[in-house]
Amino acid sequence: MIHELSNPVVKTLLNHLRETKTDALRFRHIVQELTRLLAYEALSSESLEEQAISTWQGEKSFGFIKEVDLLFVTILRAGLPMIESVTALFPQSSSGFLAMKRDEKTHQSVLYYDRIPECQGKTVILVDPMVATAGSLCDAISVIRSKAPKKIISLNLIGSPEGMRILEQKHPDIDIYIAHIDEKLNESMFIIPGLGDAGDRSYNTEG
Ligand code: PRP
Repeated sequence: MIHELSNPVVKTLLNHLRETKTDALRFRHIVQELTRLLAYEALSSESLEEQAISTWQGEKSFGFIKEVDLLFVTILRAGLPMIESVTALFPQSSSGFLAMKRDEKTHQSVLYYDRIPECQGKTVILVDPMVATAGSLCDAISVIRSKAPKKIISLNLIGSPEGMRILEQKHPDIDIYIAHIDEKLNESMFIIPGLGDAGDRSYNTEG
């Protein structure tokens, strides 16, 4: 199911990413802020586990999200600021990495690096800023599904209606939390109006 966030704070931050004057440092900073807001929303009904902790009032039990059951997975390289943000929020979580490159002619994504740990019993949270054709995200979901996790969630910043339709068809059981769905894809499969290439914007490269 697709959950597009409507919060004006989210929209404001997302729209700052579109500005060409937003430099790489601020771009990555906003990506990190947005990722946290998406994580708050995606985990809003997560159950809390009682844990005994030492406090100034002695040992007491309080509720905590079971961080060790969270596994964050990103797709290099534009997802790197996103995974930094959520792993800072949940330092006991674990992380996995995939690398894919989009073939510029066929527009198909090609997986060339896979470093995903055991997923059994884990809530796997995929983080990647952009969903254009959804090829990368669909491939990532397939890789993770084959490792039998408890649940898969995806956090994304910007997507196309075309990509959302494909995700709904291919992976209707996956919850996708996205900051904004834009107008369309162009003939080169870029999101319009979009924000350019999130990887290039984050790391001062071109193409
Ligand atoms: C971007 C983005 C996604 C992918 C989305 O990565 O981070 O992984 O494109 O496109 P799709 O929905 O059509 O598959 P990109 O290939 O630009 O690599 P980068 O992160 O290294 O910039």
